Amino acid sequence: MSSPKPKHDFEIRPTIDGSDTLFAPQFGQHYHNPNGALAESQHVFFKPLRLIPDLLAHRPITILEIGFGTGLNLLLLADWVKRLRSKSDIRYMSVEGFLAPKSTLLGLNHANMLGLEDHWKEFVGTLTQASHDSWQSFGDFIPGLTVDLFFGSFTSLTKPPVAPNIIFHDPFSPESNPEGWTPDLFAHLREWSTMQTTLRTYAASTKCRQAMMKAGWVVGSAKGALGKREMTLAAHSAEYLPGIRLVSPPKTSDGVAD
Ligand SMILES: C[S@@+](CC[C@H](N)C(=O)[O-])C[C@H]1O[C@@H](n2cnc3c(N)ncnc32)[C@H](O)[C@@H]1O
Repeated sequence: MSSPKPKHDFEIRPTIDGSDTLFAPQFGQHYHNPNGALAESQHVFFKPLRLIPDLLAHRPITILEIGFGTGLNLLLLADWVKRLRSKSDIRYMSVEGFLAPKSTLLGLNHANMLGLEDHWKEFVGTLTQASHDSWQSFGDFIPGLTVDLFFGSFTSLTKPPVAPNIIFHDPFSPESNPEGWTPDLFAHLREWSTMQTTLRTYAASTKCRQAMMKAGWVVGSAKGALGKREMTLAAHSAEYLPGIRLVSPPKTSDGVAD
């Protein structure tokens, strides 16, 4: 009889679109939507607003991701760069407090599906945590796309090496991962970004939107991925959420939002 797996083991599980996801027992959550990891990430992080137009126009791009996880968003970005033959100068910065073992990262099928196995193997091979709670540079993932990682907690995150113009906000759900959705974290993200920065996330609860608004973000609602009704987009001003339905701040009894 095989012995039970230790509680902290990450399990690779397939999703309905054929791409893998991980299950994290300590959070009791999948890293992605079980209906399609790849499809969800494309919808939430790549389709909205200015990312694809910026790649097409070869404009410089700086991305800050909250929750590196499986690295799927980095791989999808590299895939877009290659497919569009983009010459954008890209800096990808991401935060992770519980990096999965290298064997797990290499066991996922994302790189294989996207034809990026060699780049992924080389990158994962370099993933050594030199220090905790600080930014580390990992050089080029593919030519023109450099990676920086912060190994540490969302609560001890420090200013990224450069201001992000796009934020991929991707912690686990607000219920199981509340430290990823605090007004404090959203305030830091706003302070470290530029007037043009936009934030995108799969979540759409009133509570997480209120945390963003409390931190000064203008919040909008868009159609969610894979049958989910809504997701959230945010910016410093409504001008950077063109065509997006804005969400009004809650009114208090004196008519002023908290
Ligand atoms: C939903 S997963 C991210 C998925 C990832 N973007 C991907 O495409 O695979 C959330 C990630 O946040 C990390 N995380 C959760 N709480 C954290 C914390 N307090 N500090 C740092 N990282 C945390 C988890 O380890 C996990 O990798």
